[in-house]
Amino acid sequence: MSISFDPRNLLASMVGDENGLTQAELNGGQEAAASALAGFRKGYAEGLYGFPDLPGNKKLIQEIEVVAKKYSGTYDTVCVVGIGGSALGCWAVDCAMRGPHPVQGSGTTKRPRLVILDNVDPDFLNHALESMSPKKTLVVVIAKSGSTAETMGGFLVVREWLMNSLGKKAAGRIIAVTSEGRGDLKVLATQEGYVTFHIPENVGGRFSVLSAVGLVPAALIGVNIKKLCRGAAEMTTAAWSEDLETNLALSAAVHHWLIWTKKNKSIQVAFPYSNFLWGAAFWFRQLWAESLGKAKDRTGAVVNVGQTPVAALGTTDQHSQVQLYMEGPNDKVYSFWVVEKPKKQVKIPKAKLGLDGFDYLGGQSMGKLLDAERRATEAALATNGRPNCTFTLERVDEEHLGAFFQLMEFETAFMGELLNINAFDQEGVELGKKFTYALMGRSGWDEFKERFADYEKKRG
Ligand code: PA5
Repeated sequence: MSISFDPRNLLASMVGDENGLTQAELNGGQEAAASALAGFRKGYAEGLYGFPDLPGNKKLIQEIEVVAKKYSGTYDTVCVVGIGGSALGCWAVDCAMRGPHPVQGSGTTKRPRLVILDNVDPDFLNHALESMSPKKTLVVVIAKSGSTAETMGGFLVVREWLMNSLGKKAAGRIIAVTSEGRGDLKVLATQEGYVTFHIPENVGGRFSVLSAVGLVPAALIGVNIKKLCRGAAEMTTAAWSEDLETNLALSAAVHHWLIWTKKNKSIQVAFPYSNFLWGAAFWFRQLWAESLGKAKDRTGAVVNVGQTPVAALGTTDQHSQVQLYMEGPNDKVYSFWVVEKPKKQVKIPKAKLGLDGFDYLGGQSMGKLLDAERRATEAALATNGRPNCTFTLERVDEEHLGAFFQLMEFETAFMGELLNINAFDQEGVELGKKFTYALMGRSGWDEFKERFADYEKKRG
């Protein structure tokens, strides 16, 4: 497994003092990095953070593999019902291992496809249900809280769709992933006898891709979850190191922290030059946004901190966003994600057409063109004083993907320490949820019904 981080285009020597990091700033960062690591270690020792332990859970990996084997050959589609951290990791794995959705082939019992119901848009739901056969679908319902309205509603629809076709046998085609000690999903799963996996309490949704949340769907679509966890375990070992050369997560965190807080780069563009990492960019967007967008720091002071993550795809978005990135407000840092070795190279055929727009490309590879496009974009941004950095994965396979997940999760956790905020809660989404419960008539939410009525009255 080989992943590297190149921060050179974040330096003042490349993008100027106003936008890049000076040696003095980097020296200050070293001290901050050491205390961020110490702070995170302390919280981990107190049992607050469970994600570092996930890749080492051999018992869980084995249990999931047993279940996957039991069902093997009986389905051509895995239908995940979940949202946020209970869906995005599954999508990232599927996209990286099986290909971006528009180019995936149709599902077979040997190579099942993944359908993720992470929205309650009725047109989307109807379309998805029409695309699946209940007799050949395994349903995985995922909700840590066991009560998220979108997931509970979507699951009721899918459960009925299964029952209409399979009757009582439907329960045998449903797997639940939820908390062990709380939530109505756990109650229903027990009542109806679903195969159930549990999410540790100290693992938050967006940090749960290497728990049963991501591993169950991954194993069911044929991803080697042992290898996924092996890569993640390797990165975890590196993430405990004090040496910034070894600890990529800490090094990336401190560079991103300095460029954000000292040079006012309040937006981070995650810029994979790989369609297979496109799902991971959306997974990262949630991880970064929900973990680091906070009203208060740990002392209770109002800080309203956050760095807005944007997902862009290279080279595609060179033709949609780079104009803004080059000439618009200089408020962004760009993180390029590079894959060194494609799964299979594509040669551009030699066609001596006597037309210069074609002929210079003939005989070269698409990989070389992709690489040239990315290096050219990095150079153009740096030349315009736009700081950028590069993560390079040798390839996209299970080991590298697992390691990359863990790299980003540790980086996010270290960033939380550097900002002195709690990166593991999400109070900000609660009010909207409470209003939704009130609007949908859930009992016990009358206070929010009244508050919503006041809001509507104010709007006139
Ligand atoms: O990261 C998080 O904690 C959230 O994004 C949750 O994953 C999301 O709200 C879904 O929660 P649940 O798994 O309880 O349905």
